[in-house]
Amino acid sequence: MPSTVVVGAQWGDEGKGRVVDIYAKRADMVVRFQGGNNAGHTVLVGEEHFALHLIPTGILRGTSCVIANGVVVDPQGLVEEMRDLEARGVAVRDNLLIGENAHLVLPYHRALDAAEEKARGAAAIGTTLRGIGQAYTDKYARSGIRALDMTQPEALREKLAANVAQKNALLVKIYDAEPLDFDQVCAEVAPACEELAPLVTDTAALINRALDEGKRVLFEGAQGTLLDVDFGTYPFCTSSNIIAAAAGVGAGVSPKRLDAIVGVVKAYTTRVGGGPFPTECPPDLAEKFRHQGREFGSTTGRPRRIGWFDAVVTRKAAMLNGIEKLAVTHLDVLDQFDTIPICVAYHSDGEVRDTFPNSLAHLERCTPIYEEMPGWRRDTTGVRSAADLPRAARAYLDRLAQMMGAQLCMALVGPRRDQTIVIEA
Ligand code: IMP
Ligand code: MG
Repeated sequence: MPSTVVVGAQWGDEGKGRVVDIYAKRADMVVRFQGGNNAGHTVLVGEEHFALHLIPTGILRGTSCVIANGVVVDPQGLVEEMRDLEARGVAVRDNLLIGENAHLVLPYHRALDAAEEKARGAAAIGTTLRGIGQAYTDKYARSGIRALDMTQPEALREKLAANVAQKNALLVKIYDAEPLDFDQVCAEVAPACEELAPLVTDTAALINRALDEGKRVLFEGAQGTLLDVDFGTYPFCTSSNIIAAAAGVGAGVSPKRLDAIVGVVKAYTTRVGGGPFPTECPPDLAEKFRHQGREFGSTTGRPRRIGWFDAVVTRKAAMLNGIEKLAVTHLDVLDQFDTIPICVAYHSDGEVRDTFPNSLAHLERCTPIYEEMPGWRRDTTGVRSAADLPRAARAYLDRLAQMMGAQLCMALVGPRRDQTIVIEA
């Protein structure tokens, strides 16, 4: 397949980083197309732990990587991430390009994110405080600053001046927060922009050329479908489109050129931040998952909320993304259970429904209907082939795939690269 899109089918943290890392081995180019450094893609290489936020996971394979137009780029965050990787021997600069039209996340976006979250009080979204929503707001308000502007320091300074003045008015008059100092903003941002300027180019042309030449391009999604700004649990969602179609928009590639869509699900469900979560478990049960599942946010370190697999959620994701192939991660975390519930539908207002309501008020009234699958009670962390999986584990995986109308392609049984079971090449 010349092009493949990898997307999360839950609320993010499905383990996309691990899955992309596997596909990247055979890719010529890896492209991030939405989100920003709110993402955290974790990959373990040998004993070394890498958490990527803005840089495509393909960088760890020495693959050519692109941060495309649909991403919002925090110059300071990106430089920090590049330096961290370089200090650990990863070649970054020769393998990374940034889309000219990608918008920048700047210090005032982070300040506003904090101020807005505080003002929301009990209704806080629980954002990552990276200023992501605020940067996308400026993009759509047509007051944003783009990667292209990093190559023109004088124009950048002028645009920063206008934006700092406007944001300071908001910070002070609306949110009763501290204003930012323009000179300090420039002093923080300018060196990072100067460092990144040589990487800025027309990435849409570059990606299309790669496809013209028959190269294999991998589109790396961030977050998960239920955090999509249009189709997620709004307003408890992120500020970008996450679904597979966003790969076309964010990268500047025709939807006709997106070949395979791979969905990633965790064998159960997690989310970080606020918002509805029908299958959420009580804290004592959640603790049983947390240790083995390493369920702490890789960007913020927050403990994740945990629950059983929700097929209502993943069916919606399968539909919205057109998921054909399914990768299931964290299967080993379920090794410990005698029986494993799967939510197959909801009870709501005296009825059974198998679709996810868009109204949060309605969702509040939904209670999960569970089907129980037998557990396997065997350590799967050492399993490397489908034939060696416990029968009940294979039945569980097959059931998830069947409910999503997708073909199972991979199961992951631990954080290491070799803890991978390829089910269909
Ligand atoms: P924001 O994207 O920082 O504005 O956060 C909005 C919501 O999306 C919050 O609930 C975050 O916890 C969630 N979120 C954002 N990025 C990720 C991610 O990469 N994984 C999981 N949750 C995320
Ligand atoms: Mg993550």
